[in-house]
Amino acid sequence: MEDEVLFQITKANLDTGLRGFPVGTCVTSTVHPQKGLFYADQPVDQLAAWAPEEVIFLLYHGKKGSQEENLAFKKELIQRAHLSSKTIEEIKTFPLDVDPMRLFTIALLFDGLYSSVKDYREDALNLIAKVPEMVAQIINHHAGWKKTPPSKPELGYMENFAGLLSIPGQVSDQFPHVLKLFDLLHFDHGGGNLSTFVGKAVASGLEDLYGSLASAMCALAGPRHGRANQECYAFVQEILNVVGPDATCQDVEKVIRHKLSKGELIFGFGHAVLRVEDPRATVQYDFASQHFGNNPLVKIALHLRLAGTKVLKENPKISNPYPNVDAISGVLLSAAGFPYPEYFPVLFGLSRVVGIAIQIVYERIEARGGKGLPIVRPKYLYTPRI
Ligand code: MLT
Repeated sequence: MEDEVLFQITKANLDTGLRGFPVGTCVTSTVHPQKGLFYADQPVDQLAAWAPEEVIFLLYHGKKGSQEENLAFKKELIQRAHLSSKTIEEIKTFPLDVDPMRLFTIALLFDGLYSSVKDYREDALNLIAKVPEMVAQIINHHAGWKKTPPSKPELGYMENFAGLLSIPGQVSDQFPHVLKLFDLLHFDHGGGNLSTFVGKAVASGLEDLYGSLASAMCALAGPRHGRANQECYAFVQEILNVVGPDATCQDVEKVIRHKLSKGELIFGFGHAVLRVEDPRATVQYDFASQHFGNNPLVKIALHLRLAGTKVLKENPKISNPYPNVDAISGVLLSAAGFPYPEYFPVLFGLSRVVGIAIQIVYERIEARGGKGLPIVRPKYLYTPRI
């Protein structure tokens, strides 16, 4: 029904970050407050065993691919995985004293100059295919690690990425699997998360896909969004430093109560939409306790999961006292052999490029019977300063 009332705006809704305002339709995924994230009707926790390429197919086509379709799609991504040598040369000149997310944004803009064909669908598939190499080039350069080896996309989307990272230390055998989990759990999160919203809004002015994604990555870079995983990791580490590796859940609870009594923040809990534990966190908690249960940071993160929820639940003003995806994602990466928190947001970005690019394709060339959506232009009410 065209005239069905979905949401009523009162003055109290102004200046609330559009929280809960329905503004459009999303064909890739949805976030249900109680049931969590679904990619095209599939609960995300049930996708953990899928290959990332199969999940990308699901998001791109809105349906599970058959064996043949998945194979053909994988081949297509392999063919498109070539990163321009000009972009690689540019990345090698990037300054090192800059946040890696900034470098990711700049790399996207350069790559757009050299590779954009100004067709949203083509550019989206090309970018999705080559973004693992782009991010590996950025991390290896920024970290001062060895030269990036030649890309071998035929190994698989995340297997190739794992091999492209010139990590100096020993990684766990589980590292490629952890990267795969991290990647597919972060692909998409409905239409209204900040980076997706911004990317689509910029594309609505008919900026090309690369520029729109660069803007989206600026939106993702902040501590309230993509950098939250880095901050949560630092928080778990801080607690570990206070209580030590043999701490009990009660010890962690004491630290949380002490922090709250001083008005300090407890990181990794709550979400704008979810009212249960984030299923993306649940999948990673399960994996971490199964494979890295003796890792000191994992132990603290698991205590924090219980103790944090218990303490935050005592405050009736807190609508969601449960952990979100950032509470464990960095700890799991670190336990698997990637203890480099400044790159956690870039890994989030590498993954989220997928969902944003696919949503832009829908809004630009599929929505409204192929006409595409109009330019984003909300209304602001003028009020003089007092
Ligand atoms: C995300 O994955 O984008 C975050 O959980 C934030 C959000 O959904 O608003």
